[in-house]
Amino acid sequence: MKLFLDTADTNEIRKYAAMGLVDGITTNPSLIAQSNKTREKVIPEICDIVDGPISAEVISTDRKGMVEEGLRLAEIHRNVTVKLPLTGDGLAACRDLSRQNVKTNVTLCFAPVQALLAAKAGATFVSPFIGRLDDLGETGMDIISDIRDIFDNYGFATEILVASVRSPNHVRAAAKIGADVCTIPPKVLGQLLKHPLTDSGLAQFLADHERAKL
Ligand code: G3P
Repeated sequence: MKLFLDTADTNEIRKYAAMGLVDGITTNPSLIAQSNKTREKVIPEICDIVDGPISAEVISTDRKGMVEEGLRLAEIHRNVTVKLPLTGDGLAACRDLSRQNVKTNVTLCFAPVQALLAAKAGATFVSPFIGRLDDLGETGMDIISDIRDIFDNYGFATEILVASVRSPNHVRAAAKIGADVCTIPPKVLGQLLKHPLTDSGLAQFLADHERAKL
């Protein structure tokens, strides 16, 4: 399973990219706003750090506007993946951009049948939002299993990009199901890395090493 970082914070991206853990980046307008930079400034910076798909989301909501904006975003760098909302216009724009060999990520997916539509529109990635379904008392991860089954039934090439990830358990479940990609906030990637037994075991080894030198 590929791991993307779900952030526009270039310090966090540099930190985890240096560990070789980052296969790509996803951003959205909320994450861009948190970076205190414009999309046009931060996306090229991210492309300089990570050599993998970098999702940049359109603001337009009509097909023509999304296609024009998407083409402009795609010109920034060969790795830019145009993120489009899962609306009728978004799917039409996805079809248009796919036909022009622009990589796409259809976002705000909350149901397996929506993912089916994104795949039929030629999306490179579809982003089901797990945590936001959990917030409503549903089990978000259930839709990942369903989407996996549907895509495998028909051999769709669209990659399942698990988004709105809130915990290491989400990542474990996504990997067990066989999702293609999980996009993870830096905080959750930090949690994946840590285990108290790793820390205490290392401390013990170092202490024993010091004693052996006496
Ligand atoms: O990639 C989309 C994702 O960032 C949404 O996450 O936590 O805002 O639901 P969240």
